Amino acid sequence: MGQEMNTRIVGAAPAGAPDRESAAQAVREMFTSIAPRYDLLNHVLSFNIDRLWWWRTARTFDAILKRPDARALDICCGTGDMTFALRRRAGSGSAQMLGADFSHAMLQRAAAKAAEKGSGATLHWIEADALRLPFPDGYFNLVTSAFGFRNLADYDVGLREIVRVLAPGGECGILDFGEPAGLIGKCYRVYFKKVLPKIGTVLSGVRGPYAYLPASVERFPAPDEMLDRMRQTGFREASWTPYTFGIAGLYRAVKSV
Ligand SMILES: C[S@@+](CC[C@H](N)C(=O)[O-])C[C@H]1O[C@@H](n2cnc3c(N)ncnc32)[C@H](O)[C@@H]1O
Repeated sequence: MGQEMNTRIVGAAPAGAPDRESAAQAVREMFTSIAPRYDLLNHVLSFNIDRLWWWRTARTFDAILKRPDARALDICCGTGDMTFALRRRAGSGSAQMLGADFSHAMLQRAAAKAAEKGSGATLHWIEADALRLPFPDGYFNLVTSAFGFRNLADYDVGLREIVRVLAPGGECGILDFGEPAGLIGKCYRVYFKKVLPKIGTVLSGVRGPYAYLPASVERFPAPDEMLDRMRQTGFREASWTPYTFGIAGLYRAVKSV
């Protein structure tokens, strides 16, 4: 059973997408369709707690980010908030910081926000698929993903790409939603499955993405399985830290030397 669990393909599967390619295309179209209102929706639907989660994740990697020669990549960067949080922690140092996403519309907003914040020159945005990253082996010291990894059509391929582009000893941080337990979990599930899709649909004007969100969280491997997959891909010291009762959580691991 354990063997079977870890060899089957596991990844996002939006309704009506029969294979990996169409799942990826459906995900890209979905995010492109909500790009104009993505930030507003994020902050409203998370009651602004998303800002705290990005900050906590970035702070975890201070030791890397403060290094002047550090190279950090934020995959599935969307409109860039995780990337901006990394930049802020790195301060005025010369760490290289890149955000990558396969939705052009999301990246356009990231670049516009960077220009408004005056950080345009210190960040680079790359249109790229996280399952086929256009970077050489061992290039980065840190790879992060915030609420994006869950949307990949094949989690093991995604993890292998992260391992490939990390230098030995480099670190990975995957921030994503979880499913809290107990009474809080029960209340949260009512909000997440019943209320959030309705508000999301009204505010975005698009039917679909906000029903996909709870479904994708339900499909995402539980922490133990995810950590197992990380270890099997070539990570060591894999850990999961729950944020806000486990509504979100950070997977952290180090690439084996
Ligand atoms: C929920 S958004 C998260 C954006 C941002 N990281 C944040 O925290 O707000 C997920 C992002 O992942 C991107 N994405 C999903 N699958 C991808 C893939 N295979 N390659 C690159 N980007 C992908 C989507 O285009 C979208 O912008």
